[in-house]
Amino acid sequence: MTTRTQRTTLLFGVILLLAAVCYLPTQFNSFAASARDDGVARTPPMGWNSWNRFKCDVSERLIQNTADALVASGMRDAGYQYVVIDDCWQVARDSNGTIVADWKRFPSGMAALADYIHARGLKFGLYTDVGSKTCQGRPGSLGHEAQDAATYARWGVDYVKVDWCYNDGLDAQAQYKLFGDALAATGRPIVMSICTWGKQNPWDWGSDTGHLWRTTRDITDRWPTLLQIIRENAVRAYAGGPGGWNDPDMLEIGNGGMTDVEYRTHMSLWAMMAAPLIAGNDVVRMSAATRDILLNSEVIAIDQDARGTPALIVHDDNNRQVWSRPLADSSARAVALFNPTDKSAKITVSWADIGIAPGNALVRDLWAHADRGVVADSFTTTVEPHGTVMLKITAQSYVAATVPDPVNPSAPPAPPADAPPAAAPVADPNVRYPYLSDLAPTFADNGLGPMELNISNGEGGTGDGHALTLGSTQYSKGLGVHAPSDVRYDLGGTCSAFAADIGLDAEVGQNGTAVFQIWADGALIYDSGALHGGMAPVPVYLAVPGVHELRLVVAPVDWVVDYAHADWANARVECRVDGAS
Ligand code: GLA
Repeated sequence: MTTRTQRTTLLFGVILLLAAVCYLPTQFNSFAASARDDGVARTPPMGWNSWNRFKCDVSERLIQNTADALVASGMRDAGYQYVVIDDCWQVARDSNGTIVADWKRFPSGMAALADYIHARGLKFGLYTDVGSKTCQGRPGSLGHEAQDAATYARWGVDYVKVDWCYNDGLDAQAQYKLFGDALAATGRPIVMSICTWGKQNPWDWGSDTGHLWRTTRDITDRWPTLLQIIRENAVRAYAGGPGGWNDPDMLEIGNGGMTDVEYRTHMSLWAMMAAPLIAGNDVVRMSAATRDILLNSEVIAIDQDARGTPALIVHDDNNRQVWSRPLADSSARAVALFNPTDKSAKITVSWADIGIAPGNALVRDLWAHADRGVVADSFTTTVEPHGTVMLKITAQSYVAATVPDPVNPSAPPAPPADAPPAAAPVADPNVRYPYLSDLAPTFADNGLGPMELNISNGEGGTGDGHALTLGSTQYSKGLGVHAPSDVRYDLGGTCSAFAADIGLDAEVGQNGTAVFQIWADGALIYDSGALHGGMAPVPVYLAVPGVHELRLVVAPVDWVVDYAHADWANARVECRVDGAS
């Protein structure tokens, strides 16, 4: 005997299966979340690299002295463990094709140098290129991937930076995969740093292939370059996480082209962005000021936070920027008040912007190494030109949100537009369909203004939006956000499906572009591609069985975030109240 409830359940199952078949394979093909997450880069790699300061003037003596200075200065103990020789160590290949190090500059050979470094509790890194030559014209690894990987493993290499010069039109994703697989096949844990300077969108495939990927052009020791790189890397925040990191390039701190204020900004924002911290200065002759910046343990702790979530800019008032990064301690946020302008600026962080409950929070200044007290709802301070005040803000009473009792148990999520008409649903008493706008998020970062409930985002204060409207459809429920946005819910593993209509609110007309992403327990399960103002609503219907953290991200397509009024209209989940998913 088939009851109506069983038929409804069966139909729902078929729809879920269809949804899974339609969405998941395409998404997982290009975004295998962290297939290369082999444990060697659970937090952003830290170390030193020769390029920024020494370019091609590398030698055994320089590397040994640097290793000694990393130990003596306390940098090793602060976490800077990889000692990486960049370009110009290699001169030729021998008759077997084995890569040959410059014997004049490295007379003892690379294996002996690796031993020297390992004996000091450090790790050893080298540089190569997937193309036929390195950027300085030395032999590249093209056609020698397995051979070079085996050579590096034999020498005791722990980290390889792989550049993109002389690539002759290679497909970056395929070529870096080949190299990453060759390194993995050696059986030696080796970090792979992908260096395509952001070409061919490494943030889409880098974590399947290596452990960090350059998002930008080369850094230089100049303030305008730093600003540009910060802008280009910040919009990739959604892509970084444990096992795979956005890399805005190595540090210039201490190289002399910027002020200490600017270098503190450099260090602060690299930590906020969960960037690899690869020092690039002369650590043998380092000033006390440089040492204090590189060795700020409170800032390093933010960079290395186990949660691994890069910061978003949650408030930007005429270049008075508030950046926020959630931490493993879910009651706390790392916050950077960044003033990129040439004049002092008062900047306010309000708890609403960083997703912690109104009320008291402890504010600690991570550069002053001082508590600023327990304050209510917001904190304001003056930030010097080009400066950054870096804070840790810890809510004093924090209750993690969970899926509460249903608010609207009657209707199931809307099926995809092309699904067969559903039989009249019969409520299963154990199944609820709460709208996300009726649940408390565990975290909400939003580009402009706060995330709005059941109205669009008006860019200013709470409640300044309009009726949620996609195309010509108005919705009474949903989330109105503004890119870049990151909103999270704890589903407690009890929900089976998520549904929403997504798009840019009709109020922006033809303006605006954004990408909608859905993450389930750290894995990307949906990516809309670029959606533009004026498009019809896109129905999304996904299986989320057993998922705890549901994360809704709206990323700008470029740095341009204007008009990115993004709606998660009718966003809701199907959950069981009896604990099963
Ligand atoms: C490229 C890389 C730099 C550096 C040089 C070496 O420009 O992006 O980081 O490795 O090559 O030639």
